[in-house]
Amino acid sequence: MSVKSNLLELLELNKGESLSGEAIANSLNCTRAAVWKAVKSLQQEGYLIEAVKNRGYRLKKENNRLSAEGIRAYLNYSGNYIKVYEEIESTNKAAKQAVVQGIAEHGALIAAVTQTDGRGRRGRNFYSPQGGLYMSCVLQPKETIQESLLITTAAATSVYQAVKEVCGISLDIKWVNDLYKDSKKVCGILTEAITDFESGNIDSIIVGIGLNLFIDEEMLPEELKPIVGALFENHADAQNVDKNKLVACIMNHLLEEMKCLKLSDVYVQRNMIPGNRIQIDDGNSIRYAKAISICDDGKLLVEEEDGTQSRLVYGEVSVSLKK
Ligand code: BTN
Repeated sequence: MSVKSNLLELLELNKGESLSGEAIANSLNCTRAAVWKAVKSLQQEGYLIEAVKNRGYRLKKENNRLSAEGIRAYLNYSGNYIKVYEEIESTNKAAKQAVVQGIAEHGALIAAVTQTDGRGRRGRNFYSPQGGLYMSCVLQPKETIQESLLITTAAATSVYQAVKEVCGISLDIKWVNDLYKDSKKVCGILTEAITDFESGNIDSIIVGIGLNLFIDEEMLPEELKPIVGALFENHADAQNVDKNKLVACIMNHLLEEMKCLKLSDVYVQRNMIPGNRIQIDDGNSIRYAKAISICDDGKLLVEEEDGTQSRLVYGEVSVSLKK
């Protein structure tokens, strides 16, 4: 990694504190002139670095720019492939391309500030303006396709945990992988598999997460207004959240969950579907049922209107609470 990149990671790790040029140079094994040059370059890119006479350099607390270095500073594992974009078509698309090119493996991450062609489930678009976090994580599980449903629940659990830890907000989870605050969707997750053409086995899974920190209601498309919400009601509160820390925290939880895939207690406890009457859309028709519980394999156990029970599989249906 370059001096600039190492310096940014060091400053992110010590955000708000001054580090002397000498200490930085020693830690990065470079000259003080090289540190100065890297600081200038980062400042030009918009990083809020202050040079204080006799004290050194300080990354201001208000600096809240999403960066690979900022994310890496909070990761519990060595993130080899982390890419951050101001704007991208779709982080899921980019992650898939990186896997196919053989440059992204288990734990790789692509994050962006906005997306121009964000993708949602069932071929829908995902509105991705500034104010959100858009990220895709590459997972290469050893498990079979059946267990990959638990990857989806693990992703929802990870977002729940990270938002609780970093923002102090307890979200609700809607089977299978939407997160809600005050009855509005604040996070959507799209899990896509890349299969090996010859064996038919899953080679990689891309978990795409779109999380709204703040949404400008005025700009929101009319049809989304009743449905879509955000973690914070005002922009200033959202700005105070360390986005790098939030992304890293989601990744840390997700990779931890992957070590022993199972339905988490939190996923079950925070789920808003069981016990309610729901509407089931299988793409061809709509029916109603009562949601009973979430099974250990992540399927949703429901009682159909004729009294029979069935287990719903994510991907085959989408459910919503019956109004
Ligand atoms: C849904 O609710 O329909 C799922 C939305 C998933 C959106 C995320 S944003 C990051 C990643 N990149 C995409 O293009 N989609 C996912």
